[in-house]
Amino acid sequence: MGLSPPAEHPGRADGAVNGAEPEGAMVAVRDLTKRFSAGRRDGVLAVDSVSFEVAAGASLGVVGESGSGKSTLARCLLHLIEPTSGEAIIDGVALRGLAPRHLRRQRRQLQLVPQDSHAALDPRMSVRQIVEEPLVVHGERNASVRLAAVEEMLDLVGLEDSLVARRPAALSGGQRQRVSIARSLILKPRLVVLDEPVSALDVCVQAQIVNLLKSLQRTLGTTYVVILHDLALARYLCDDVAVMHRGRIVEHRPAASIIEDACHPYTRSLIDAIP
Ligand SMILES: Nc1ncnc2c1ncn2[C@@H]1O[C@H](COP(=O)(O)OP(=O)(O)OP(=O)(O)O)[C@@H](O)[C@H]1O
Ligand SMILES: [Mg+2]
Repeated sequence: MGLSPPAEHPGRADGAVNGAEPEGAMVAVRDLTKRFSAGRRDGVLAVDSVSFEVAAGASLGVVGESGSGKSTLARCLLHLIEPTSGEAIIDGVALRGLAPRHLRRQRRQLQLVPQDSHAALDPRMSVRQIVEEPLVVHGERNASVRLAAVEEMLDLVGLEDSLVARRPAALSGGQRQRVSIARSLILKPRLVVLDEPVSALDVCVQAQIVNLLKSLQRTLGTTYVVILHDLALARYLCDDVAVMHRGRIVEHRPAASIIEDACHPYTRSLIDAIP
């Protein structure tokens, strides 16, 4: 299995195509809202009428303080949790109400690198098993095809062959993050959502991982939604930056002009915090 750029519209669920999104949008989110314990007075409005678009092959950075709703947005976007209202259209397919069979097919194209990927990696599995697992789950029966894909992927993310038999506990933070990235890319998804891929790493390793993500995007043409704490990193890695504050997107601009043009006070405070 080679790692050529993904095909045009693999996995598109028949009959679910929504032609309304602008051409080229890989992600179109409209009024996405998530209220935990909906209907209860003490419910939490974690994501509040969020709308944005990400063009195919582009990257959106989502920045905001802890508790602003970033991880909830990531999970709603991929329908890993059901939004309370609004919709996410991915590659022209509205995920809401998709039959499980179609959703499964669509999932192959959508991957989440979860926050705290250390905890998300099964401690009993080897690096090879972790990276290979999505291929197994999605029915690749040929072991030598799987092995070739794993080797190619590990090479692409810069992990040495000698690490394939190791368990996550025997890896550095940076190596674990590379394993998570390899696992998320092995199915050659069209969209990868990365939830704080570098926040647990020291500055030097952060730079390595961010540069790796950039070069992988160039090689594979993947669309990214990347959640980050750091506006400067988002600006460096992404084409567009959205700033989230208390469940809402308060600013959304091209990365190149966010510093000059930002007008929301919360964005200004993030800019002032850049060393
Ligand atoms: N399962 C849940 N049930 C109830 N409330 C939740 C649940 N998950 C998240 N929340 C609440 O929703 C809000 C947003 O949480 P979320 O995890 O999306 O924030 P975040 O921006 O990712 O924060 P961090 O930067 O710390 O990861 C918080 O107030 C949180 O307490
Ligand atoms: Mg989070």
